[in-house]
Amino acid sequence: MVTSVPEGSIPVIDYSLLISGTPGQRSEIVHELGRACQDWGFFMVINHGVPQKLLSSILDGCKGFFDLAEEEKQEFKGKQVLDPIRSGTSFNVSVEKVFYWRDFLKVFVHPVFYSPTKPAGLSEISLEYSQRVREIARGLLTGILESLGLEGSYIEKSMALERGKQIFITNLYPTCPQPELAMGMPPHSDHGLLTLLIQNGIGGLQIQHKGKWVNVGTHSNSFLVNTGDHLEILSNGRYKSVLHRAMVNSKGTRMSIAMAHGPSLDSVVSPAPELLVSSEGDEPAAYIGMKYKDYLEL
Ligand code: SIN
Ligand code: FE2
Repeated sequence: MVTSVPEGSIPVIDYSLLISGTPGQRSEIVHELGRACQDWGFFMVINHGVPQKLLSSILDGCKGFFDLAEEEKQEFKGKQVLDPIRSGTSFNVSVEKVFYWRDFLKVFVHPVFYSPTKPAGLSEISLEYSQRVREIARGLLTGILESLGLEGSYIEKSMALERGKQIFITNLYPTCPQPELAMGMPPHSDHGLLTLLIQNGIGGLQIQHKGKWVNVGTHSNSFLVNTGDHLEILSNGRYKSVLHRAMVNSKGTRMSIAMAHGPSLDSVVSPAPELLVSSEGDEPAAYIGMKYKDYLEL
């Protein structure tokens, strides 16, 4: 059964207060971040400072990529998970006979920046967008670590975020004549630490909340953020990496851009030792650390 998230129930985080609020406002937001990660694993970020024009330009640039002729896109068809540019279509029948109705482009944008060379201008916009979003991810992660009682410096100590893997994934879900027979993206959790998503105004994302699939809808000029598997590991399960999926519809073409932020490829993220002791005694580590590169290739 699928329900819609009632207006206002997904937690909303005011990023400007996290970055330039008073100490009291900042600690309130850190508290809200912790609650959002614990209760939902998803939250909206408003007042992030990225101009609306840049959000529109990056969506337009990606549309321009999807509109290229198939022969032009051919040179960007990577095969392996670790290929820096990989475009493709997931139009196939899975074991459950579900059609995946989606075109995608995945690009590594940090620590080394890659971009398709077409369409003209995409590379410049993507570079600017990646930098701006990375900054916000860093600010949010610092706040999230603080909400766990960890120092912000954990970002470098444990995850080498400066060299962290940032992956730009854009998805195009064409209008589907029989949406009940197809799916956009199957249920999954995200590998990394934090993903920031924008959409083109057409909804389709559903998340698992309290055992039910709920529709998230779209919210212009804000980022939809979710925590990933490596934050679940680091927090020893306090902040779960929540399952989500994308549905398709017969009303219009949907586009989304997910920016995934993970540790550096050679980092091994394990449960933070500080979280394995509490006033009630020792808490066993629930996860075994693994090199991020190996995790991505699983
Ligand atoms: C994702 O999970 O990576 C994106 C799903 C969507 O298109 O909203
Ligand atoms: Fe995802």
